[in-house]
Amino acid sequence: MKLFENLYKSVGIDLGTANFLIYVKGRGIVVNEPTLIAINNRTNQILAVGEEANKMLDRTPAHVTLIKPLINGVISDFEMTQEIIRHFFSKLSEHNLFSRYRTAAVSIPTNLTEVERKSVEDAVVSAGASKVLLVEEPIASAIGTRLPIEEPTANMIVDIGGGTTEISIISIGGAVISRSLKIAGQRFNEDISRFIKSEYKLLIGEPTAEALKINVGSAVSTEEKLEMAVRGRDVSTGLPKEIIVRTAQVKTALQKSLKAIADVIKSILEDAPPELVGDILERGIYLSGGGSLLRGLDEYLERELQVETRMVDDPLTCVVRGLGIIIEDTKRYETILSNQEKPKLVNL
Ligand SMILES: Nc1ncnc2c1ncn2[C@@H]1O[C@H](COP(=O)(O)OP(=O)(O)OP(=O)(O)O)[C@@H](O)[C@H]1O
Ligand SMILES: [Mg+2]
Repeated sequence: MKLFENLYKSVGIDLGTANFLIYVKGRGIVVNEPTLIAINNRTNQILAVGEEANKMLDRTPAHVTLIKPLINGVISDFEMTQEIIRHFFSKLSEHNLFSRYRTAAVSIPTNLTEVERKSVEDAVVSAGASKVLLVEEPIASAIGTRLPIEEPTANMIVDIGGGTTEISIISIGGAVISRSLKIAGQRFNEDISRFIKSEYKLLIGEPTAEALKINVGSAVSTEEKLEMAVRGRDVSTGLPKEIIVRTAQVKTALQKSLKAIADVIKSILEDAPPELVGDILERGIYLSGGGSLLRGLDEYLERELQVETRMVDDPLTCVVRGLGIIIEDTKRYETILSNQEKPKLVNL
């Protein structure tokens, strides 16, 4: 049966709000591109997907629409999500006749409704997978970090992505407590744009806000004095204007969102059973997801929470690497996967 296993090509898919990653069994990460699609809105034709579409950001002519088909980790445009998956599947399987027969392990936020879970499954199946295993993002992230989640010790993982921050306490292969909030990397960009508009009366695009966040942004005061020149449109004159933005300003812009994240983690620690909190105090908090790359975020949370906080290695690929570990050895992770498949009760 080994032969068939190879032909069936299992894949891991991190269908993120900001980034789309695919891990192919036996090969590793083969796709790592923005979750973005450009369409011609006159003809409905797909013009570009992923990195190619990203190059068009903020520079599109009127007939081109750029779509981010996920909002806060949830599919908001089913058809476009399906097109993105189909696009990358077809690139993977150019030389593989058996490409339709794949098992796909797909990461999802923790608080999805049954309908939203079903929509992820349907999108992946209609793009060519034969079987879908849904894995909650913090579990995938913890496995990707190789935390000992099967042991009876609690681990806290905070995944700050583009659209959501997922906070989970994991023990014996399952999430004991999970909370998902819609404050993450994209909200940080919005905070920065809003701040620049109110302080400098300057309108900037999202790529500029993101560049500010990455190049000079910080959650805490820094010794190195970073600054960046940004160009935008003056609100009152409508003309282009350039200003210099420094770390302290980006830090101020982000304070409210960062405080909100810290407060939710704090409330989870306050509500959790003492044994779990004891484990977390001993082991610390693990930060994953691209949003956690914000300069000084670990230090900020450590100070706010009084718990040691550390970043996982390569936080942007941690979820898909976790899915990869699962599909490389599905037998070992059977119990974890069956925990995940339990239908949730929906309160009507
Ligand atoms: N060096 C950096 N500093 C700050 N933020 C960063 C950095 N690099 C990437 N990011 C942010 O990380 C976010 C993307 O992270 P990630 O790929 O983990 O999200 P995602 O998985 O697509 O989203 P989600 O899990 O919320 O659906 C973006 O908002 C991006 O701006
Ligand atoms: Mg993610």
